Amino acid sequence: MSNQKVAYITGGTKGIGFGIARILLGNDISVAFSGRKQEDVEKAEQELKQYSENVLGIVSDVRNLESEQEAVQRITEKFGRLDFVIANAGLGVFKPVDELSAEEWNSMIETNLTGAFYTLKASVEELKKTEGYYITVSSLAGANFFENGTGYNASKFGVVGFTQAAMIDLRKYNIKSTVIMPGSVATNFNGNIPSEKDNWKIQPEDMGNLVLDILKMNPRVLPSKIEFRATKPA
Ligand SMILES: NC(=O)c1ccc[n+]([C@@H]2O[C@H](COP(=O)([O-])OP(=O)(O)OC[C@H]3O[C@@H](n4cnc5c(N)ncnc54)[C@H](OP(=O)(O)O)[C@@H]3O)[C@@H](O)[C@H]2O)c1
Repeated sequence: MSNQKVAYITGGTKGIGFGIARILLGNDISVAFSGRKQEDVEKAEQELKQYSENVLGIVSDVRNLESEQEAVQRITEKFGRLDFVIANAGLGVFKPVDELSAEEWNSMIETNLTGAFYTLKASVEELKKTEGYYITVSSLAGANFFENGTGYNASKFGVVGFTQAAMIDLRKYNIKSTVIMPGSVATNFNGNIPSEKDNWKIQPEDMGNLVLDILKMNPRVLPSKIEFRATKPA
């Protein structure tokens, strides 16, 4: 087994996942990341190669367990191990509950919540081998409900509960788990195009540095739930 640790980040083609990938690659961690479209995955892989050659882009959809199992197989074939899994892929549709369609509801539950479970399900045996780390990206919307947020709130409250219960199951194997609950991050989320107006927000590289700090903590301590917010919201 190679000594270099290996991370798998779901939804790494842009935004938070890309920011985490960039920081981990710059700190001697090999990175596999996923996205749904071949061309977006290839483009992100090319961009990430400037930080390290130890990067692997994978086309995978977190809503599909088989696809996640194949992704993990590709990671272990290429890198020989898997140490850190970051379940980040997610989306939001914000509408009053009476206007939210069943399809929109399902897209959030299946991606944000079931996707986090499928990613863990596909990788947990590898994490047992490396006594690794499982991190989920929930949201401050996982603790605070708001107008037009029913489906998103439900999925992100779910991710908080899921990760904390998984934390108790997994620590028996010396696998640590953390749920991160970010406030506003300057990404493409919900159709946003990052620009100067987003300078007050958490930046994707701040998320990367947070993940790096978490991974470096002494094995005896476990920050199981982290609220992470902009210092001065606009
Ligand atoms: N931005 C914020 O203010 C904020 C705040 C709190 C929490 N979050 C959470 O942070 C996470 C990342 O969001 P972001 O802000 O970085 O948004 P983003 O810029 O829109 O990026 C979302 C990422 O998720 C991927 N993705 C979406 N559905 C997927 C699926 N079914 N399978 C695999 N990958 C999928 C997208 O890849 P493709 O489109 O290429 O498939 C993309 O890489 C989400 O869980 C979001 O809820 C965001």
